[in-house]
Amino acid sequence: MKKILIVGAGGQIGSELVPYLRGIYGTDNVVATDVRECTGLSEEGPFETLDALDGKAMEAIVSKYGIDTIFNLVALLSATGERNPQLAWKINMGALMNSLEIGREHNCAVFTPSSIGAFGPTSPKDMTPQDTVMQPTTIYGVCKVTGEMLSNYYAQRYGLDTRSVRFPGLISNKTLPGGGTTDYAVEIYYEAIRNGRYTCAVPSDVYMDMMYMPDALRSIVELMEADPTKLKHRNSFNVTAMSFTPEILAAEIRKRIPSFEMDYDVDPVKESIAKSWPNKLDDSCAREEWGWKPQWDISSMTDDMLAAVAKKLEAEKK
Ligand code: SER
Repeated sequence: MKKILIVGAGGQIGSELVPYLRGIYGTDNVVATDVRECTGLSEEGPFETLDALDGKAMEAIVSKYGIDTIFNLVALLSATGERNPQLAWKINMGALMNSLEIGREHNCAVFTPSSIGAFGPTSPKDMTPQDTVMQPTTIYGVCKVTGEMLSNYYAQRYGLDTRSVRFPGLISNKTLPGGGTTDYAVEIYYEAIRNGRYTCAVPSDVYMDMMYMPDALRSIVELMEADPTKLKHRNSFNVTAMSFTPEILAAEIRKRIPSFEMDYDVDPVKESIAKSWPNKLDDSCAREEWGWKPQWDISSMTDDMLAAVAKKLEAEKK
């Protein structure tokens, strides 16, 4: 990885992955792109406005900067996808197909995140294995499974260096996720600080895998830097850091803010999606093949999130 292109850089992952990669590989070697202008990212280093569905425009940027690695972060998330499945397919698969095709023509490595959403109700719920039944019931999951297979196909057919992780719900404090089923685990911290209470759209007792953003960023770089001869899998590796329910997370917050209250107004779409996903992934293949190991748990993450969100909301008031 010497010249990196980030597609969809303005989202929850990209807004943190760009500065993280710029810190490791040098500011000028990380070109951020998004369909919208992103002031923060463009002030700090190279930035181009790019609609990921415009393959010609993507190719022009790859040529202009001599890109050798593409991170494709474009996606409509699970709950939003259910509101417009055709659009979700068009955007999620279109951005991936362009990344793979341009990767093939310009010999670039391609990273695309997959998700716990690639699993479905027929997958084993607990310690969900790396290789198992994958029959998702959301359009988001259908795109993720297809994307995994397509990326493996490009690796096998064209020798393209494609790699991916199946991310759990990602918790972060820079850019909000939008339209995901796991969003509650981010929103809860903001509302705990703002109002001391939160109304959760996911039922109290549904377990899902989660990960704090610093672990997610590190996992991406560690996988992309891993020795390819050690990789038995490519697209995509189970990774996880913790598994909890809304009630468990609320209790963790209550240890720090005893007056915190949570009630429920369950969204039937999110409920059915959450219940169709694993309770907890088995990420032993990632641990064995490239040394994956999370560093953050629910307690350390909660300390850090509450402090960071409080600081951010305070700064916004000024
Ligand atoms: N966080 C995503 C969602 O909830 C899952 O990958 O849609």
